[in-house]
Amino acid sequence: MKAVEVRELRKSYPRKIPFPLRKVEWVEAVKGITFDVKKGELFGLLGPNGAGKTTTIKMLTTLLEPSGGTARVLGYDVVKEAREVRKRINLVAEGERTLYWRLSAYENLKYFARIYYVPKAEEKERIEELLKLVGLWERRNDLVMGFSRGMKQRLAIAKALINDPEVLFLDEPTLGLDVQSALFVREFVRKLVDEEGKTVILTTHYMAEAEELADRIAIIDHGKLIALDTPEGLKRLVREGDAVEVRVRDFQQAKLEGSPYRLAVIEEDPSSNTLTLRGSVDEEELPKLVEWLVKSGAKVLSVERKEPTLEDVFIKLTGRAIRD
Ligand SMILES: Nc1ncnc2c1ncn2[C@@H]1O[C@H](COP(=O)(O)OP(=O)(O)OP(=O)(O)O)[C@@H](O)[C@H]1O
Ligand SMILES: [Mg+2]
Repeated sequence: MKAVEVRELRKSYPRKIPFPLRKVEWVEAVKGITFDVKKGELFGLLGPNGAGKTTTIKMLTTLLEPSGGTARVLGYDVVKEAREVRKRINLVAEGERTLYWRLSAYENLKYFARIYYVPKAEEKERIEELLKLVGLWERRNDLVMGFSRGMKQRLAIAKALINDPEVLFLDEPTLGLDVQSALFVREFVRKLVDEEGKTVILTTHYMAEAEELADRIAIIDHGKLIALDTPEGLKRLVREGDAVEVRVRDFQQAKLEGSPYRLAVIEEDPSSNTLTLRGSVDEEELPKLVEWLVKSGAKVLSVERKEPTLEDVFIKLTGRAIRD
C-alpha cells in the first residue's frame, strides 16, 4: 500500500466579483494533479508562491474538500473516510499559530496529548521523549510566549508528533526561520524518516531545501504538476555543462520575454543596475546569447558555467525563476 495516492485532484475557490458585476468567478488553484508517495519516503512539493502547495496539503489532510479527483492516505479516502485518515496523520500548518503562548511547552503537549486521546499511561513518557527529541526538554516549564521563532516551530513539530502519526505533513517548515533553526528542522525531519520510519510530505519554495532533503520532488506550478523525480533525476533534465550564469549591467528585464532564450533573473542589484541571469544554454548557443544581450543594450560582466541545480530545471521547464 502507498502512503498517499493522488489522482486528478482539483480545487477551485470561489471569488466574488463585487458590484456592478456581482458574480462569482472560480479560481482553479489545483488543476488535476496525480502522484503517489511511498511509505517511508520524504516527499517534497516544490513550487513558487501561489502554485497550489498549501491547497494540496489541505486536501490531503482533510481540511479542505477537493472539487474533483480523489486522494487516499494509507488507503483511506480523504473525503469518505476522513476520520480514519485523521487518526493516522498530523500536520504542521503554514505559519502555525495553534500553540498556546500562555502555557509552557510541557503544558502545550499535555493539552494536545489529551485532545488526541494519547493513553494516560503513555502520556508522560511520550511528552518527555518528544521534548527531548526537539531539544526543548530544558525549557519545558517556560512559557511559549518567550520562545524564539525556531523554538516555537520545534514545539509545533513535537505537537504534530503527539499522536505518533504514520504520515506527517509539513507546510513550509523552515519559512522565516534563522539559518540554525532551519538546519535543525531539516536534520530532524530527515531523521524522522530514516530512523523512525515515518512518511513525510513537505512543501517548500526553497530549491536547496528540496534538493538536499527530499527523496523525490514534485514540482508544482500554477496548480499543475510539471515534473516528478528524485533530485538527481530532475537535475538530469538540464544537461551537464549547460547551466550558465550571466551577469549583466543596464539590461532591461522585459526584453527576456519573447527572447529565444529561457533565461530568468535570479538576482537583482538595483544600486549597480546589475542582474544575474541563469538558464541552460549549450556551447553553440552561448556566443549567440552574448551577442543578443549586447545587441539588447547590456554590458556583459561575466559568463560562467555552473553545476546544474533545481533552479535551472525550473527555469528550463517554465522560463521563470522560483525566487527564494
Ligand atoms: N481561501 C482561498 N480563497 C480563494 N483563493 C485562494 C484561497 N486559498 C488560496 N487561494 C488561491 O489559490 C492559489 C494557490 O494557493 P496556495 O496557497 O495553495 O499556494 P501555495 O503554493 O501554498 O503558495 P505559497 O508558497 O505562497 O504558500 C493561489 O492563487 C491563491 O491565491
Ligand atoms: Mg502555501
